[in-house]
Amino acid sequence: MAKRITIAIDGFSSTGKSTVAKQLAKELGYVYVDTGAMYRAVTLYALRREFIAEGHFDPHALIAELPLISLKFIFNPDKGFGEMYLNDENVEQEIRQMQVSQFVSKVAAIPEVREMLVAQQQEMGKGKGIVMDGRDIGTVVFPDAELKIFMTATADERAQRRYLELKERGENVTFEEVLENVEERDLLDTTRKDSPLVKAEDAKEIDNSHLTLAGQFEKILELFKEAINN
Ligand code: DC
Repeated sequence: MAKRITIAIDGFSSTGKSTVAKQLAKELGYVYVDTGAMYRAVTLYALRREFIAEGHFDPHALIAELPLISLKFIFNPDKGFGEMYLNDENVEQEIRQMQVSQFVSKVAAIPEVREMLVAQQQEMGKGKGIVMDGRDIGTVVFPDAELKIFMTATADERAQRRYLELKERGENVTFEEVLENVEERDLLDTTRKDSPLVKAEDAKEIDNSHLTLAGQFEKILELFKEAINN
């Protein structure tokens, strides 16, 4: 049987990490895990319980209820990937809304939240044959991953992609609002105390500002071939 490895894909928000990670997992027959969905689901929980809102944030109340939060990915064969379930409810759509995006970096900065989610992610990846995307996969979750990719693109390019995605879903947002959210999340994600977003020393950087999806995928497959032959 071919060697199965761990693939960590990290990078800034809206760099297209999940698109490429899903495609790669499909091609290799690996499991795909979108760790951002887990932080988003915890944020949705906090919003519903009103622990977080505009001008209000009670991290202690959220920390106290962490044991009540169950997160699962359940494979949807029509979509070809696992959808996020929060306490047995499919929240895959809801966690992508702008309101969740606005607060998720704050929730992701809580050390107790990270500790719980990192432990779950390490458990999911125990058997290898996994493509996991996030911010700290190559640095914290799987520092020994055989292949680490760090994706970047300019903030403008990322905001443009995200804006089109949200518009397509019928959300009422302006490009400026999306750009502001992208820049704000970059700042929060790179400056938080616990596991800030940084490129792992041994990660391969891919700037996809000017790459097509096909061009980018080709590059990643090459890196994969190198990694399994090492
Ligand atoms: O990948 P995404 O945009 O869906 O992630 C949502 C937020 O979750 C992002 O702003 C940072 C946080 N996150 C994190 O801190 N660590 C991860 N491994 C994944 C996401």
